[in-house]
Amino acid sequence: MRNVTKDNITDVFMSYMGPQTPPRLQEVLGSLVKHLHDFAREVNLTHDEWNKGIAFLEAAAEISDEERHEFVLLSDVLGLSSLVDLLHADPNGTSSSVLGPFHISGSPDLAQGGDLRKSFDAPVLLAEGCVKDPDGNPIAGATLDIWQTAPNGLYSSQDPEQTTYSFHGLQTVGADGRYAFTSVRPVEYTVPSDGPVGDILRACGRHPWRPSHLHFVVEAEGYRPLVTEVFPEDDPYLDQDTVFGVREDLVMQYQNMPAGSFPKSGFELSGSVDDAFLKVDFDLTLVPA
Ligand code: BEZ
Ligand code: FE
Repeated sequence: MRNVTKDNITDVFMSYMGPQTPPRLQEVLGSLVKHLHDFAREVNLTHDEWNKGIAFLEAAAEISDEERHEFVLLSDVLGLSSLVDLLHADPNGTSSSVLGPFHISGSPDLAQGGDLRKSFDAPVLLAEGCVKDPDGNPIAGATLDIWQTAPNGLYSSQDPEQTTYSFHGLQTVGADGRYAFTSVRPVEYTVPSDGPVGDILRACGRHPWRPSHLHFVVEAEGYRPLVTEVFPEDDPYLDQDTVFGVREDLVMQYQNMPAGSFPKSGFELSGSVDDAFLKVDFDLTLVPA
């Protein structure tokens, strides 16, 4: 086609795709380009604006490495990661939520009642609950990959003061489906905002804060893996999470437990916690694969 116009360019693009193009690729890429073209026509995109867009993508690529995932962050702050989650939500299970860029594989085993707090100086949080199916039956043998920030709001990969697997653990539940561990109360924190995604947040007058949360990836044979997070109901950022990760069913309540009430057995910290502590009991429901 030599007579390309602003009105026919989208159809021309589609006609350039060969017959061997897989149908799903044709559908997804075709739709993406159609929306891109419509977007450019709708806002009458200028050369200057488009060059800024290209410079942004180049800067995002430049800052990305094994530990810095600027494009994941971009998808998160644009709400795309959450939208993809929501498109595939199953109302019979616990909602999924963003994985985020700080999950690392290979977390060490965390025994039932094991401790993630280690020597960090912060009040104890006791977290427990049941991994179950939509009928409420426990799922024996489910695994929970658990991670969170340290009390300073940093994940281990962001903080030279922490070891690689600090505040990371992998727990396998028994026949009763129950998990239990101790840690510290997670704190609200900012997503990395020293790169091009931070520039977008600032340009839009947005803050980089996320409400405090505990991350879980829950897996069991025969069930859909669940990537999720749980948030305390009193967090100031609950209704303004910069990555749109909060869902009503992921909001939990901390119970204030008085001094002297820490379980006398069953926990790595049993016998060594005399002070008041926080407790949360939160069940996680997996749906069949
Ligand atoms: C996180 O919760 O770890 C996270 C999620 C999205 C962007 C940045 C961090
Ligand atoms: Fe997080």
